Amino acid sequence: MVDGADAGGWSHVAAGWAALWGSFADPARVAIMNATGIEPGTRVLDAGCGSGEFLQSLQERGALAVGADPAAEMVALARSVGVEVVMAGIEDLPLADDAFDVATAVNALQFADDTTVALRELGRVVRTDGYIAIANWAEGSLNDIDVVERAIADALDEEHASDGPLRTAGGIEAAFADAGLEVVEAGVVKTPWSVRDEEMLVQGILLGEDPDTIAELRSIVIAAAAPFRDDHEGFTLRNSFRWAVARVS
Ligand SMILES: C[S@@+](CC[C@H](N)C(=O)[O-])C[C@H]1O[C@@H](n2cnc3c(N)ncnc32)[C@H](O)[C@@H]1O
Repeated sequence: MVDGADAGGWSHVAAGWAALWGSFADPARVAIMNATGIEPGTRVLDAGCGSGEFLQSLQERGALAVGADPAAEMVALARSVGVEVVMAGIEDLPLADDAFDVATAVNALQFADDTTVALRELGRVVRTDGYIAIANWAEGSLNDIDVVERAIADALDEEHASDGPLRTAGGIEAAFADAGLEVVEAGVVKTPWSVRDEEMLVQGILLGEDPDTIAELRSIVIAAAAPFRDDHEGFTLRNSFRWAVARVS
């Protein structure tokens, strides 16, 4: 699995991420577009934009979208959407004060070294009365993928990774409060992940692992995901994201 704070690691998996995971957060993206009132002409920064699927949705809504990501290959993919993308982490954006109406980070804020510094930096580039919207995986109990990750941890005799502070109920709101930002709305949304066959399941779950590890864990992943088989050859894992929006003052 990818070490989230390692931009080189994200570059390495950029194409795989785009193919296997690029669109699965769409329901969370729609929730935050609606909650922040994004409409034609809204200036939006998507920080940690990955391969650029959200930038494309923003563009289709008529927003003036800009992306930021520290991983060179992610930046290259995101630029292919046809928008400006800067190569930078959330904590230090080469962007002007008050340049945006809305800043978003979907499944990305947890990779910042310091969440408070990152949220304040998003606040710097958003105008007064603009919004910051954060969306992240919800706690493990709301995610079928947790079952598979536990099986992998057991097979490797490792500790199962904890949920982390941004994933639990109220976690994003607490991070906003720590950064001095006023929360205006929050919610939870279903983000199912579907793959058409065992190969995609294994490649998606073990994205970033070397071939030997994939071979070793393949049968563990398939067995653990058995409850999530669909009526065909594929699998659907029911997962959820939590999101929250804060106003910049
Ligand atoms: C799990 S992917 C999510 C990408 C995209 N937001 C999405 O929803 O598909 C995480 C992304 O965060 C980026 N990232 C890692 N550290 C970051 C940081 N400090 N600031 C901003 N983005 C970061 C990675 O390069 C990667 O593109």
